Amino acid sequence: MDLQESIKSRRSIREFTDKKPDWREIIEAIHSAQYAPMVGNLFPMKFLIVDDEKIIAEIAKWSEQEFINQAKYVIVLISDEGIVTTPFPDKGEVFLRQEAGAAIENFLLSLTEYGLSTCWIGHFNEEKVRKSLKVPEAYTIEAIFPIGYSKEKPKKSKPKSDIYNLLYFNQWENNRMRKIEKIDSRAPEGY
Ligand SMILES: Cc1cc2nc3c(=O)[nH]c(=O)nc-3n(C[C@H](O)[C@H](O)[C@H](O)COP(=O)(O)O)c2cc1C
Repeated sequence: MDLQESIKSRRSIREFTDKKPDWREIIEAIHSAQYAPMVGNLFPMKFLIVDDEKIIAEIAKWSEQEFINQAKYVIVLISDEGIVTTPFPDKGEVFLRQEAGAAIENFLLSLTEYGLSTCWIGHFNEEKVRKSLKVPEAYTIEAIFPIGYSKEKPKKSKPKSDIYNLLYFNQWENNRMRKIEKIDSRAPEGY
């Protein structure tokens, strides 16, 4: 699968089959996250791999999202804020959020390439999840990813906004663009 295909076919999946993913492919996807751009070339992320059914059930409960129980593996992304805020006290927190996003997208696209599915879980009770996973206070739980194989063929993805509404030229007041046939030759119809 090429990069454009991974980007455009990745979907949030909330129904998984019983088939257990190959953990090696998950590790490869985590490895992809290590290539994301990071300020100062520091890597402040940790990945906690959960395959214990009881702990997965607790994560589902503290996220109020029952479908997480279907996953055989749940990956929890944890950041070590001090690694970024110490050298960059002014913008460290913002950088860390951006870096988590960059690492996550590499991870998600790699999973897609391996035919694996997930859903980015941001709604969870951090303190309850922290207790279940015994994560020390100094770390932030950024996001949770239940991993599996999609039960159904996911619907095709679409761009989340009209490109004509998000482009500006030189200055904020110039946000109109003449409609053109296709933004690039690889774009799907209507893009
Ligand atoms: C920061 C963030 C938090 C999210 N939290 C949840 C969540 O708790 N539960 C959920 O079902 N989906 C969650 N999602 C997934 C979005 O609902 C999903 O990306 C969106 O509906 C678009 O669908 P797509 O991923 O298939 O393009 C989250 C996405 C992001 C980026």
